[in-house]
Amino acid sequence: MKIAPFKVEEWMNAYETGARYNIAETCVDSVSLDELFEITGEDKEAFWNNISKKRLTYGYIVGNPEFKEGICQLYKTMTPGEIIPTHGAAGASHHVFYSLVEPGDRVISIMPTYQQLYSIPESFGADLHLIHLDEKNGYLPDMDELRRLAIPGTKLICINNPNNPTGALMSREMLEEIVEIARSCGAYILCDEVYRHLTQEEEWSESIVDLYEKGISISSMSKVFSLAGIRLGWIASHDKEFLTSVLSHRDYDLISCGLFDEEVASIALKHADKLLARNKAIVRGNLEILDDFIRNEPHLHYVKPKAGTTALVYYDFDIPSYEFCKKMYDQVGTFVTPGACFEEEHSMRIGYASDTEELRQGLAGMKKFMESL
Ligand SMILES: Cc1ncc(COP(=O)(O)O)c(C=O)c1O
Repeated sequence: MKIAPFKVEEWMNAYETGARYNIAETCVDSVSLDELFEITGEDKEAFWNNISKKRLTYGYIVGNPEFKEGICQLYKTMTPGEIIPTHGAAGASHHVFYSLVEPGDRVISIMPTYQQLYSIPESFGADLHLIHLDEKNGYLPDMDELRRLAIPGTKLICINNPNNPTGALMSREMLEEIVEIARSCGAYILCDEVYRHLTQEEEWSESIVDLYEKGISISSMSKVFSLAGIRLGWIASHDKEFLTSVLSHRDYDLISCGLFDEEVASIALKHADKLLARNKAIVRGNLEILDDFIRNEPHLHYVKPKAGTTALVYYDFDIPSYEFCKKMYDQVGTFVTPGACFEEEHSMRIGYASDTEELRQGLAGMKKFMESL
């Protein structure tokens, strides 16, 4: 089966490991196991003693109960039986499409966003319709356009809240409006919530599953909990028929997630408040640094993110974004993602949730590079 190249992942694969200042990364500054034990206050020795004795079987096929209890705390209405662990959020959305979308199904998605949300359904032969998120609307979807596209029989509406790359955040009211539109045509809503809870203001972030009986939330341990290395994500939904279909498809290509990974994630989620406090402080402090930099840089402009870890920043040089980013990487070592990976030319995505010093140095490199143009 053909699928479009995943532009952002191809770019990251090619350059990330050699980057001097990696401000393309979208996880909040990842932690080691030592740091995880330090932040959570859990007993490292007891953990190792316990895990070392465990037989490395497939473990819990439908997920470690403690892990799933921990996930439920991130929502208002979820129960453990409504959570399916997956290989990252990447695996989660793949499973959603694999389980739901058949050739000819009408799917509405958005642009820009993480490319999975349109290229996978397209590869499955969906009748795909894209809503372009406009800078003028703060990158929020146009509800009239959605209403026009969501005709009876629409199978799935895909959204991403908070949005990667723009950092836009939909309010509860907007989500409720999308739910009302989806309900009127019987569509599922898949919401990629991998950055949920990383808000700039102290507020509760609504999840689609707490608002809609056919809502599907996907998320993971990667961004919000700084544990991308355990490759653990999940699907959450109240819709039993959908969950049954996912489990059936999942038997063919996953069986279970890693026993070790789920133990680590259980510890992190048991102390979700501590990790969230650390990570909100990082995204809020670092965004101030980025905002200050952009306000003082006449060649750049952006819409300040409301949540997440990324910002879409436009420059006024007449250089295509792949060339701009590659030259900057080669000359000063600052690594960002070309806007063309999101079909947004003359822009770049900056991931500002890295180590603060790395962000400062990466931006200093960017300044030097732009002065050379
Ligand atoms: C919006 C979005 N969804 C999903 C993913 C995949 O994340 P993971 O598979 O690490 O959970 C990413 C990673 O960048 C992302 O930005």
